[in-house]
Amino acid sequence: MAVRVIEKAEAQIRVYKDGDELALKAARYFARMADQYVVGCGRFTVALSGGSTPKSMFALLAKTPFFETVPWSSIYFFWGDERHVPPTDADSNYRMTREALLAKVPVPEANIFRIPSENDDAAKAAAVYGETLRTFFLDIPAASRGTAPLSMFPRFDLVFLGMGPDGHTASLFPETAALENDSDLVVANYVEKFDTYRITLTKPVINNARNVTFLVSGADKAPALKEVLEGAAQPRLYPSQLIRPARGTLLWMVDEAAASRLSNS
Ligand code: 6PG
Repeated sequence: MAVRVIEKAEAQIRVYKDGDELALKAARYFARMADQYVVGCGRFTVALSGGSTPKSMFALLAKTPFFETVPWSSIYFFWGDERHVPPTDADSNYRMTREALLAKVPVPEANIFRIPSENDDAAKAAAVYGETLRTFFLDIPAASRGTAPLSMFPRFDLVFLGMGPDGHTASLFPETAALENDSDLVVANYVEKFDTYRITLTKPVINNARNVTFLVSGADKAPALKEVLEGAAQPRLYPSQLIRPARGTLLWMVDEAAASRLSNS
């Protein structure tokens, strides 16, 4: 049971005691969503986040009871973003997910759609992944420039997101070009502070999902979480504020340390 639940106009925030409880409740949430969509639609499409927060959820999902009960063969795995490194690199989100989860559960290889981040040209890798999404979700004609209608974007059943201490999510970092992109599906986003490109889903793709769920843990996230959820609208500074599913749910699953500066309202 969450320690407390805060309802806001466009989001629900579930606060858990600590990172371990957050990981367990997130694993249960994943399993519930997978069952719901596989029973209802015959498949479950999920875009995973990277970084360190999801690791403990993945480790639980690879064990009893989830190993035996989750309908792994009907789940289709994608990534919300990836570092511009090969899949064998220690910084690769794909490698982290493969080691923590995918190598341990019976997901068919054909159900795993990795971002081709080994491509030296990050923009090419993003374009290829965009085509992968178009082909998988539906034959979406190449979106003309400008804001394409919602129907032209893939619609994930679930997008998991993390949030950095700077309020970024996926690889939508503060003051970066990708924040304004309303027409592409996937872009290469140059992140000056890392002096590197990241490959990321764009906000219209994320916001077209049926469910978007943030997993946020740790005191270092508390200042940004306060600004994102209760501060003034400053999406260029706090890109997580850009995430507002147009036709879907928005759930924040956080621990007490990350939520320590939130009001209860
Ligand atoms: C990445 C992620 C990124 C991550 C946040 C939080 O590639 O790093 O996709 O958006 O979710 O930076 O990272 P932690 O979970 O490590 O705090």
